[in-house]
Amino acid sequence: MPNQFPSVRPRRLRRNQTLRDMFQETEFSLNDLVLPIFVEEEIDDFVPITSMPGVMRIPESKLAGEIERYARAGIKSVMAFGVSHHLDATGSDSWREDGLVSRMARICKDAAPEMIVMSDTCFCEYTSHGHCGVMHDHGVDNDATLINLGKQAVAAAAAGADFISPSAAMDGQVQAIRSALDAAGFIDTSIMAYSTKFASALYGPFREAGGSALKGDRKSYQMNPMNRREAIRESLLDEQEGADVLMVKPAGAYLDIIRDVREASRLPLAAYQVSGEYAMIKFGAQAGAIDEARVVRETLGSIKRAGADMILTYFAMDLALQGI
Ligand code: PBG
Ligand code: ZN
Repeated sequence: MPNQFPSVRPRRLRRNQTLRDMFQETEFSLNDLVLPIFVEEEIDDFVPITSMPGVMRIPESKLAGEIERYARAGIKSVMAFGVSHHLDATGSDSWREDGLVSRMARICKDAAPEMIVMSDTCFCEYTSHGHCGVMHDHGVDNDATLINLGKQAVAAAAAGADFISPSAAMDGQVQAIRSALDAAGFIDTSIMAYSTKFASALYGPFREAGGSALKGDRKSYQMNPMNRREAIRESLLDEQEGADVLMVKPAGAYLDIIRDVREASRLPLAAYQVSGEYAMIKFGAQAGAIDEARVVRETLGSIKRAGADMILTYFAMDLALQGI
C-alpha cells in the first residue's frame, strides 16, 4: 500500500543551522572579491557619489592611506578607475608615464605591495567626448584605439599594475594588449578581459561616479543584452587572444551567461556586480524594503553559484568590515 506521506524528505538536512552550514554548496570570501575604486586627481576632499550611497571618489592625495586601510581590513584586490582633469580627443593622459593611470598603480603598489592591483584599461575617463576610444566619422575607430590600448597597458604595467583589464570593448583588444606587453618585456603581467560586456542601463551610476562626458550610448561596441550565443562567442574570442581571466558584466541579470561561459571555457571567470546593481540594493534598503546585508550575501552567493570564481563588487569593503 503506497504511503500517503513521503519517505524522501529534503527538509531533514535543513533542520538546524549546523546541518544547513554542513550542506551548503557555495561559499564566498574576501579571497574572491575585488573592490572597484574611483580616484580623482587635483582635489583635496572625498566626493560622495549621490547615486551610489556610501561610495566616494578618493582624492589622489589620499589614495595611499585608503589602500592601507583596505589592506588592513582584508581586501586583497582593487580595480582602479581614474577621474581625470586632463581630457583630450584620444585620452592621451592615460598612457603617459606620469599620467593618472600610471600614478594610481604606483601609489597602490607602494602603499600595499601585496594588494593585487587591476588597472581598468579604457579611454572614456580620459576623452573629451566620453567614448571608449578614438573617434572617426562613423563612431569609435577600433584599430586606432587598439594602438592606444597597447600604450596604456604598457604604461600601467611599467607602474606595477598586476592585471590589465581592458573594458573598451574593441575587437582584438586582448591580442593587441598581449603583444604590446610582451614586446615591452611585461610577460608576467596578466590580462583580465571584460570579455562579455553588455551595453547595459545598469552602468548609470558609474557615469556619475566617473564624471563621464558621454552623450549617446556605446551600443556600437558593447553587446546587445538580448544575445546569448554572441555573449559566449565574445568570451571565447578573448580566450583565443590570450586572456588569463574572463569576465561577464553586469552580473546579477546575466547569471545564465555566467553559467554558459563557465561551461564553455576552463579559464578563471570573474563577474562584475556593477554600479546599478549596487544602487538598487542600497536604495531598496534605505527605503526599508529589503535587508541590505542579506541581499548582498544572496546576490554575491548567487553569482558564485552561477559559476563565477571572482566578483568585482562595491560592497567588498562593507563585507570586509562586517565580516563575511
Ligand atoms: C567604461 C566602464 C564602465 C564600467 C566599467 N568600465 C561604464 C560603461 O561602459 O559605460 C561600468 C562599471 C559600473 O557600472 O559599475 N569602460
Ligand atoms: Zn570605456
